[in-house]
Amino acid sequence: MPTIQETRTTSPIGRKTPRVDGPLKVSGTAMYASDFHFPGMLYAVPVEATIASGRVTKLDTAAAEKMPGVRAILHRENIGKIFRSTFGPGLEGLIDERRPPFEDDIVRYYGQYVALAVADTFESAKAAADAVRVTYAENKPNVETDLEADDDPETIVGTWGSAERLESERGDADAAFASAPVKLDQTYVTPVETHNPIELQATTAIWDDSMLTIYEESQWIFNLRGILAQMFGLPKESVRVITKFVGSGFGSKLFPWTHCPLAVAAARQLGKPVKLVVSRKMMFQTTGHRPRTQQHVRLGATSDGKLVSLQHDYVYHRSMLDNHHDDCGEATAFQYSVPNLRVKFGRARRNVGSPTDMRGPGAVPGLYATESAMNELADQLKIDPVRLRILNEPKIDEGKKLPFSSRHYLECLQVGAEKFGWSQRNPEVGSMKRDGLTLGWGIAGAAWIAGRFAAAANVELRDDGTARVACGTQDIGTGTYTILAQLVSDKTGVPVDKVEVALGDTSLPEGPVSGGSLATGSIVPAVFAATDNAITSLLQIATATPGSPFEKRKPDDLAFERGRVFVKTEKTGEGVALADILKRANLRLVTGSGKSEATFDNPKPKFSTHSFGCHFVEVTWQPEIARLRVSRVVTVIDAGRIINPLAGRNQIEGAVVMGIGMAMLEHTTYDPQNGAPINSNLADYVVAVNADVPKLDVHFLDYPDLELNAVGARGIGEIGLAGIAAAITAATYHATGVRVRELPIKIEDLLTSTVLS
Ligand code: MOS
Repeated sequence: MPTIQETRTTSPIGRKTPRVDGPLKVSGTAMYASDFHFPGMLYAVPVEATIASGRVTKLDTAAAEKMPGVRAILHRENIGKIFRSTFGPGLEGLIDERRPPFEDDIVRYYGQYVALAVADTFESAKAAADAVRVTYAENKPNVETDLEADDDPETIVGTWGSAERLESERGDADAAFASAPVKLDQTYVTPVETHNPIELQATTAIWDDSMLTIYEESQWIFNLRGILAQMFGLPKESVRVITKFVGSGFGSKLFPWTHCPLAVAAARQLGKPVKLVVSRKMMFQTTGHRPRTQQHVRLGATSDGKLVSLQHDYVYHRSMLDNHHDDCGEATAFQYSVPNLRVKFGRARRNVGSPTDMRGPGAVPGLYATESAMNELADQLKIDPVRLRILNEPKIDEGKKLPFSSRHYLECLQVGAEKFGWSQRNPEVGSMKRDGLTLGWGIAGAAWIAGRFAAAANVELRDDGTARVACGTQDIGTGTYTILAQLVSDKTGVPVDKVEVALGDTSLPEGPVSGGSLATGSIVPAVFAATDNAITSLLQIATATPGSPFEKRKPDDLAFERGRVFVKTEKTGEGVALADILKRANLRLVTGSGKSEATFDNPKPKFSTHSFGCHFVEVTWQPEIARLRVSRVVTVIDAGRIINPLAGRNQIEGAVVMGIGMAMLEHTTYDPQNGAPINSNLADYVVAVNADVPKLDVHFLDYPDLELNAVGARGIGEIGLAGIAAAITAATYHATGVRVRELPIKIEDLLTSTVLS
């Protein structure tokens, strides 16, 4: 085995590697779900309910049916059977909106699909959908923003399984809070946020005899296959899901949504391929959102800054039927040392489509609240907020009572402080100026879960000196194609651009969800084992083939590196190329299979596994025109070994951009009259764009976490969004003297600032 040092210089792992799929994307030849066309294909457009609560009393389809090119107007009476799906053991059958489309005539949220127009062209289908007349018996919808928890049992069912509402408890948090010399008691609110990946959700469904093939932009093709098999009463092997490229998802494409079975049912009914592309407006209604949260945080501390009590009680909204759980307390129980703690949640039903996971689900709104509370406590104690965190650094995960596999949070803070120049900070509000602008500085910490899902992979070594890796996972824009190639290249020495990558197809070995920032960590052991097994076959062939230069050797004497077979003791020699070995044996290829086990199945884990990080933020404030801008961000991330620093930096930068949007721009507003999300387009739902974003300084600590896999890689998709909003609101307070505890920060919040230029 080469030493780590040798690996670092010769292996592509840790090397800035341009994306292997980049040329396909920039040339427009990458095939996204809605790019696939088939002969005779029909287009479907759903009819959206224009009320958020009530019942469909009449559906008049007569005019629509007579329109040119219209093949059918499908609804509850004529669409055919769509079954419910259900949970199974492990991760079987996960979905946020469980009710199949058209199951009853009740409308529970605005935009719920009530009919489906199918026509020869998209334009005809859209015109027909618009011509369907729906009559309702309407109730007043409940989209009230103030949240009070409904009556719920102590053990609830959430998206991923059951959960205790009393999430974590130790000591006596109430008593310790009551007697604490210093107290903080505040409520933090985060609004509904809607995922806005550039690629719209879309399904193309094809029935071929009893085989159903689906092109869908899914973050989890195997789960989608299982759900569709249940909904259409098919064996799983009769359903194939294909997702070659995803134009991002942020969680909105983790679980199937109702447009997908609608397209499948239409294709079944009409005997033709059917394509259904959801509109941007529909994406605000029927494909999930981050729920509104209201989080009550109470901190008790000694006067020298040691936490004695932490209580985190939160409520979030959910739909009328569904059970999404947004785990805002995910990081609360372990991020700081505190002897007395309680984390508890409740939920409130509203007439909205089902919320779902959105980048850093739970932890992102959760850390906004708890990190904001830490910043406010630091100000109250007149202690530097970095110092307050150092004072409360835990030795172990006090929630799970387990050591951390790898935690370098304090080093994140130290490196961030140095890079940012934090020692120059004057804590007095409005005291720091530059170029006529008032500056505000703020920080916050970050954490996100790390672990592995089960995964399987196949690797081929081929007679032209190339390799192929196959794993039924997805690349949602994060760089999974490239990482799969890097992993095989690392083990074989076959150059990255000579490794073909196949993913996004349920006919491949079952790969993990592209979610939870867990795909990379999950696939490493499977791909490494598959590669090792392919190499073992190759070495056997090298010794067993008549005339081979290794005919007299045992496979154990040989090694495969830099694409060549060597005698281990003669490593300096030339060796024999992969192609020569296979050609001599008249073989096109050798293959190996490998598997990763899920860490989540381990009933007795030895370690608490998480990634950590922090953000240092500067804002500029112009009181004359109430203009607040983020002017500088330094982010330091401890996410294990970084396999591809180029793609990794992209992930963190993208998350920080999204964090600027979260803190200052993004919020979905529901009309109290009809329950419609009223800013359901990219003009009115404002996200951060280039002009909102300064130069971002991202730094990785790069400590391998070997608990997770042989590379020591954890995930990086989500952690960059954790904490950033709290750092921005802290910086905003420092500049303006205004505490904003309800996101996003609005200009009108800042008009009370007494900081003058
Ligand atoms: Mo992520 S919210 O698990 O796509």
